[in-house]
Amino acid sequence: MYPLLKIDTNKFKHNLNSILSLMGKFNLSTMAVSKVFCAEQNLIDIINCSDVEFIADSRLENLKKMVTTKKKVLLRLPSISDVLDTVHYSDISLNSEILTIRKLNEAGFALGKTHEIILMIDLGDLREGIFDYKELRDNIEEIKKLKFIKLIGLGTNLTCYGGVIPTTKTYEKFRVIINKIKEDTGFYPSLITGGNSSSIDLLINSKLPDFINNLRIGEALVLGRETAYGDYIDDMYNDVFTLEAELIEVKNKPSLPIGEIGMNAFGEKPSFIDIGNHKRGIISIGRQDVDYNDLIPLDVIDILGSSSDHIILDLSKAEKDYQVGDIIKFNLTYGSVLSLFTSKYVEKKYE
Ligand SMILES: Cc1ncc(COP(=O)(O)O)c(C=O)c1O
Repeated sequence: MYPLLKIDTNKFKHNLNSILSLMGKFNLSTMAVSKVFCAEQNLIDIINCSDVEFIADSRLENLKKMVTTKKKVLLRLPSISDVLDTVHYSDISLNSEILTIRKLNEAGFALGKTHEIILMIDLGDLREGIFDYKELRDNIEEIKKLKFIKLIGLGTNLTCYGGVIPTTKTYEKFRVIINKIKEDTGFYPSLITGGNSSSIDLLINSKLPDFINNLRIGEALVLGRETAYGDYIDDMYNDVFTLEAELIEVKNKPSLPIGEIGMNAFGEKPSFIDIGNHKRGIISIGRQDVDYNDLIPLDVIDILGSSSDHIILDLSKAEKDYQVGDIIKFNLTYGSVLSLFTSKYVEKKYE
């Protein structure tokens, strides 16, 4: 059935081993991030057979269904309304709000389970994390007294909202904060999780400061790409995932719509370039499944646009003489892998 998302498990395994040997070389532990593939168990099973210590996901639903003996980490800050499930389905969560941590402590008491937490520090990317030093210090003092919470680490997240690239200068700020916390509270974290795939460039160049002993890796694992500069990593695959979609119409048509132009299916006013009559195709996948801007056709094909259930292609320069019923293949970006896994209308095939 099409659309079909093909997953090459050997390439995934290869990427996982490459990341693990890179991290191992610098004595870092790895949190393998599973959200991009919705924690599909076929891939979790591959991680289960590796030396990865933690599997991290931003969705409780994914952690709940995941079968693993690895430590489960909730990547997104827990919601107060979800504290019971957080303690139940994750071993560790990333946190920045003392109110939530107090509620996690109550949930731990109710479930008779100690919950481990990592406090997040915002170094300037301006997504999650404590920004104010006094707040951080006071939170640590309070957390020390909570019976069902164990503070195991400090962390930071970069290159997510603000696009802030990890540099030795930014990490120096992190080091200063951690050392001051040790001085002021006596707490020195056993786990210092310094970032995501955007820290891989520093790591490869032996510039990641050695006080950092963990990274949380998603994109580099699935796409073989570091995310500070978007460079592909040597000896890793960027085609673990490919999309195949079926042509449901192939016709010669003009490139300019005919008639008065109002809004498209999404309320946007479309604009068009006139290239005259040309060979066009429609594949049976649409905006409900994926943003076409995140698809990379393997043949010489331009993507013209999409509606909820259709993507329209310019086939005029393609190497193959496509007919209706033929399959069009695409390489994928992070955004397309994420949404294609999420769409229940896309068949997944593990090879
Ligand atoms: C807190 C946190 N850490 C790590 C990651 C992994 O990021 P990346 O896919 O760039 O490795 C994410 C996003 O998935 C995240 O939200």
